[in-house]
Amino acid sequence: MNKKTVKILGIETSCDETSAAVVTDGRNVLSNIISSQIDLHSEYGGVVPEIASRRHVELILPVIDSALDKAGTDLNDIDGIAVTHGPGLVGALLVGVSAAKAIAAALNKPLISVHHIEGHIAANYIAHTDLEPPFVCLVVSGGHSHIVLVKDYLSFEILGRTRDDAAGEAFDKIARVLGLGYPGGPAIDKWAKDGDPRAVHFPRVKFQDNPYDFSFSGLKTAVINHINHLNQKGEDIPVADICASFQQAVIDVLVDYTISAAKEHKIEKICLAGGVASNSLLRETMSQKANENGMISLYPPPVLCTDNAAMIAASGYFSFLAGEFADYTLNAIPSLRIGSGHNGL
Ligand code: KG4
Ligand code: ZN
Repeated sequence: MNKKTVKILGIETSCDETSAAVVTDGRNVLSNIISSQIDLHSEYGGVVPEIASRRHVELILPVIDSALDKAGTDLNDIDGIAVTHGPGLVGALLVGVSAAKAIAAALNKPLISVHHIEGHIAANYIAHTDLEPPFVCLVVSGGHSHIVLVKDYLSFEILGRTRDDAAGEAFDKIARVLGLGYPGGPAIDKWAKDGDPRAVHFPRVKFQDNPYDFSFSGLKTAVINHINHLNQKGEDIPVADICASFQQAVIDVLVDYTISAAKEHKIEKICLAGGVASNSLLRETMSQKANENGMISLYPPPVLCTDNAAMIAASGYFSFLAGEFADYTLNAIPSLRIGSGHNGL
């Protein structure tokens, strides 16, 4: 007997992308509609929560309609509705959670809650259809920097995390100081290609009590001080060199700590996830260092690295298989911990 295909509608509204997607069996994307609000927020140099929530309200239904259309399906044909319920901006999350609850209740379909970071990790299942746990995943985005041991599809252990700024946040702040616009990651990535990564030595922080934890706030301050110092002396700002030197400092620690964590846990597969996983130096360096250590390194295409609902549907599929469903008390949890389930405990 043929196994029935499971078709999940995914919904993601945790930050500044309104997204809906239809994915079958957690691996095959039928549609992935992403409406970015970058233009709305760029003049403020970052995401304005109130503006994000209002825009999600306007976009959520058209985006869901268009995901169903593009997938050539309708709501009756959907097996479950998966939605990001945290972490993220509470007003933004609530838009997606409310829409998902309404659809699930109206059609009497299963509701599945998804942790945003578990979603980012699941982007790798779409990009690499043979990928199975265990693996170590470096999740680096605008809001998170975690080294996660993915023991099984629904079982996670955090090996390291940032103690202050997320990697993407550091990229965005430095880009802002240099006047490169928002989001800063892609701009710094581009400028760095013409700069010398050894031009300025910026600090790399290592903690004694957990060698896999990150800290980027000291690095950010060092870069800003360096720029201020040049300004005070009336010197030109070598933008490309600063971008290259800053980027090298971030990527060195991300790659070193992830490889060491994988080695300690005897894991030979490393995946990248989150917006910063699009960074060209990170991809190159991780592949090269993994190779040197007899490991393999995988990453999703850029469209699956930044926020999207296909990754949420993919993650939701594994909860669906395990029969882990949410009920209508599901709420947005801005600081949800990974692996904590739909009640956030
Ligand atoms: O995953 P994401 O879309 O949103 C969050 O969940 O935070 O990540 C957005 C972040 C931004 O900070 C952006 O600057 C960064 O990812 N980013 C990059 C690159 N592309 C996006 N950072 C470095 N290099 C890139 N090429
Ligand atoms: Zn994200």
